[in-house]
Amino acid sequence: MSCTYLATGATGNTGKTIVSILLSHGHKVHAIVRNPSSRAAQAIASSGATLFQGDFASPSSLSSAASGCNGLFLITIPGPDAVTFVQNALTAFLGCCAPDPTVVLMGSIFQDDATTALVQSPNSGLPDKPPHEFVKGYWSMTDAVERAVKESRFPHWTILRPAWYMSNYLDFAVRPIHWPALAPEKKLVAGVLPATPFEMIDPSDIGTFAAYALTEKGEPRWEHKCLALASELLTLEGKARIMSHVSGIEVKAVYLQEDEAARFAEEDFVGYLHFWQRVTAPKVNMDDMRAYGFKLGSFEEYLTRNKERLLLALNDDSVAQRGLSSEEILEGAGQHGH
Ligand SMILES: NC(=O)c1ccc[n+]([C@@H]2O[C@H](COP(=O)([O-])OP(=O)(O)OC[C@H]3O[C@@H](n4cnc5c(N)ncnc54)[C@H](OP(=O)(O)O)[C@@H]3O)[C@@H](O)[C@H]2O)c1
Repeated sequence: MSCTYLATGATGNTGKTIVSILLSHGHKVHAIVRNPSSRAAQAIASSGATLFQGDFASPSSLSSAASGCNGLFLITIPGPDAVTFVQNALTAFLGCCAPDPTVVLMGSIFQDDATTALVQSPNSGLPDKPPHEFVKGYWSMTDAVERAVKESRFPHWTILRPAWYMSNYLDFAVRPIHWPALAPEKKLVAGVLPATPFEMIDPSDIGTFAAYALTEKGEPRWEHKCLALASELLTLEGKARIMSHVSGIEVKAVYLQEDEAARFAEEDFVGYLHFWQRVTAPKVNMDDMRAYGFKLGSFEEYLTRNKERLLLALNDDSVAQRGLSSEEILEGAGQHGH
């Protein structure tokens, strides 16, 4: 049976895949975009999605897109308005959707009962460390967003908690925050141990999980589940080796000593999350991931598919200072990174 789904974040890393899977399965997709004439919006329109100009800040702009839809893919926009945005979307959708709807929320792997408990207690779970203020705010926000979905009147919901995106190494806005030494020094610097696994996900894999959670409504594997997701577990050294192999440029893994890692954790939210990984077990069991039966992307495949963006990320930091995203640069050059 053909259904209609509303995709928010449809032009983003994850949303693009959700749109393409839903359309390829014969469903209709309504996509909320802030600027229908943007390249990304035009790309999903030409693949068959119907565009609706809308913004989470304006509930009335979301209602017409939700009319008659059977399910909602809901992205979180981190920041002070995150909870209001999610509540606006849930209310607008429930006001005019088809009966018995589903919502799939994109959250984060760093949200679970343990992090919720930590935000509520003065103990950070890390030796001698109060929670980093930014991380505390992020955990509080993701907890509140998840509660908004669980306590909503949606009969069916699934919360996806994806791991670190593989795109964090390429996106010009994100990479300098996570990996500031990557472009200037060709180094991945982290406050983890050589054996610490980084849980990583190809954003397209999140799209696959989201599309199936929407279309397999009520199936026990999705119904009222919070699912931590990863495509691959890699050490810092393993990531550096793959980046070097795909790019042909040597990338080194640099492990901070324990005292440096502890200082990094106090100064910087990324440092805090590295330290967190250093002392906690992975949240994802890859056997459980494979049991879903979907093909999971590897970091090597992801980088190979996006090799032009990888080379830009490793070679030219100045483009970021000119305010261009790597996709805009590649599109300008007539190439395409996906
Ligand atoms: N990076 C990581 O490692 C990581 C890990 C776990 C979870 N996450 C979560 O992943 C999410 C980001 O997902 P993504 O990478 O797929 O998205 P993305 O590529 O960053 O794109 C953001 C999307 O949100 C839309 N958007 C932004 N502000 C909006 C607004 N005010 N109203 C309506 N739409 C708006 C944009 O649409 P238009 O610009 O077209 O309007 C765009 O489609 C965040 O919630 C983040 O916390 C990230």
